[in-house]
Amino acid sequence: MGGLIPADVVESVRLATDIVQLIGEYVRLEKKGKNYVGSCPFHQERDPSFTVSPEKQIFYCFGCGAGGNVFRFLMLYENLTFPEAVRRLADRAGIVVPRFSGPREGSRAWLEEQAWEINAMVRDFYHHFLTHRPEAREARNYLEKRGVSRHTQGIFQLGYAPPGWDTLLQFLASRNCSYRQAVELGLLVMGERGKPYDRFRNRLIFPICNAQGRVVGFGGRVLDDSHPKYLNTPETMVFNKRQLLFGLHLARAAIREKGYAIIMEGYMDVITAHQHGIHNAVASLGTSLTAEQGSLLSRYTKDVVIAYDTDAAGVAATIRGLDLLQQLGFRVRVVTIPEGKDPDEYIRQHGKEKWQQLVETATSLLDYKLSRAAEKGGDTATLLAQVLPNLAAMSGEVEREEGIKRVAARLSLSWEAVKDALQRFNKNAGKKWPNPDKIAKKKHNIIEDARSKAEFMVVKLLLQYPGYLTEVRRELGESFPRDPGLRQIYQFICRNEEAVRVDPAAWMHELDEEGQYLLSRLLMEKVPGEDPVKIIPDLVYTIKRNNVQEQREKLVQELAEAERVGDRGRIVRILSDLQDLLHTR
Ligand code: UTP
Ligand code: MN
Repeated sequence: MGGLIPADVVESVRLATDIVQLIGEYVRLEKKGKNYVGSCPFHQERDPSFTVSPEKQIFYCFGCGAGGNVFRFLMLYENLTFPEAVRRLADRAGIVVPRFSGPREGSRAWLEEQAWEINAMVRDFYHHFLTHRPEAREARNYLEKRGVSRHTQGIFQLGYAPPGWDTLLQFLASRNCSYRQAVELGLLVMGERGKPYDRFRNRLIFPICNAQGRVVGFGGRVLDDSHPKYLNTPETMVFNKRQLLFGLHLARAAIREKGYAIIMEGYMDVITAHQHGIHNAVASLGTSLTAEQGSLLSRYTKDVVIAYDTDAAGVAATIRGLDLLQQLGFRVRVVTIPEGKDPDEYIRQHGKEKWQQLVETATSLLDYKLSRAAEKGGDTATLLAQVLPNLAAMSGEVEREEGIKRVAARLSLSWEAVKDALQRFNKNAGKKWPNPDKIAKKKHNIIEDARSKAEFMVVKLLLQYPGYLTEVRRELGESFPRDPGLRQIYQFICRNEEAVRVDPAAWMHELDEEGQYLLSRLLMEKVPGEDPVKIIPDLVYTIKRNNVQEQREKLVQELAEAERVGDRGRIVRILSDLQDLLHTR
């Protein structure tokens, strides 16, 4: 387990590890100029855009944006926490890491670690109950009836919560876990008269893990037909359904290896899939897919096959989730399981081979929508509107032409009519801001954009020429930079002027994950021009002008408001402020 490792030990481990050598053990790298390039292990790609710099000792993928130093690479590739990655590399280098003191008490990291620890303890308790106790015989029979092997029960650490109201409560008390903590983690429920009791009673327990395999919550299934069929952990500090995919920690490697993920609906679907050697399956836990789940998955693949129950209750909601994935750049295919079965039933009955064949028949989202339309009917205009985004999302010219043909045929429209509609759709999507209010917003966005670019360049240049820091700080003050990601890096530069000059790879792991990606990008993207330092004053000026502009807009708005209510005093004050602004530059 983790905990704080002294910074000087971390640094000696880092210095003892060459990034090209380390990554070379996982990825085939070729030398190209000063750097090494290869196929990114964190996303699917055709042209290698994964770059490793021996000089800077960092990696960065120009395709998916992942980046960092040796520690981040190992964390991403092997699913490790930071301390685990450090220890792993320390072992490799023969460096002894002292026992840890743990994160600061009360900090978020500390609370999360506590939550994981308690959840893991509860998982073990329920699992032991299932596998060893006579009271769990019915649960064991149930699993046997459903064909879940002992081995699979172990892999998923399934458990059983007995019928009593205080079984877990007693156990937690014996382990010095406070009721308050257990209630906050959703393990106990606070009763009417302030007396807590077990949330899960007489249920089969499915531990739910995050991508790193930490237990963050539980699902509990009844053993009969009573309701609710499943009871889940409510939202807690570590359990957020929108950001989880059931089974991802077990599926990650296979998803990368196979190049795609299968998204199913339920716990049992994924468990059966794994038992039959289909390891790239995860479940969305009965909700419509979210953008958070999409970005989680995009670390491993951008290619998904959806295998939802045919009788899926909220088909509309389901499709919204799929459109969302497509918008995020995923290739989305849908498999239709015959005879109204769910993957669990189908795989158990027909086996892996038949399942693979079925997956090969998966259709594009467009065709899926079209075939549903054919089944259900509906008016042509609505149906057309529903598939236009899918046509628009097709990247290849040929693919799109084919798609247009199929839509035309299915909806009995002419090829031209569909093509026209698509063009109109694309045009509208392109101009996105049809009303005046939004046009103003667009103008604002363009200005914003120029500002972000300038901020980006300034921070980038400061990393190379920290000597300009004093000047930038003097000119731009506290409000710079506005972008939170850049801000994190800039503030680090301000606090550690000396360190920055020496070696970014030595301190980048102090930033959060996104911060590390951004910093890697700042360090790896080429600086345009021969003497980039020369543009610093221009960039600073752009940002200052943008600040003034914004202040002015704000004052003008306040002025209008003051005039509306007839506040003479305020009007005079604002006018004078506006005057002052005119003289700022
Ligand atoms: P299903 O009703 O399809 O269940 O719900 P299932 O996974 O096929 O389970 P079995 O085969 O009947 O045992 C799909 C998923 O939706 C969530 C669960 O995650 C479930 O696996 N769900 C369903 C709930 O959270 N609560 C419920 O009451 C029902
Ligand atoms: Mn089922």
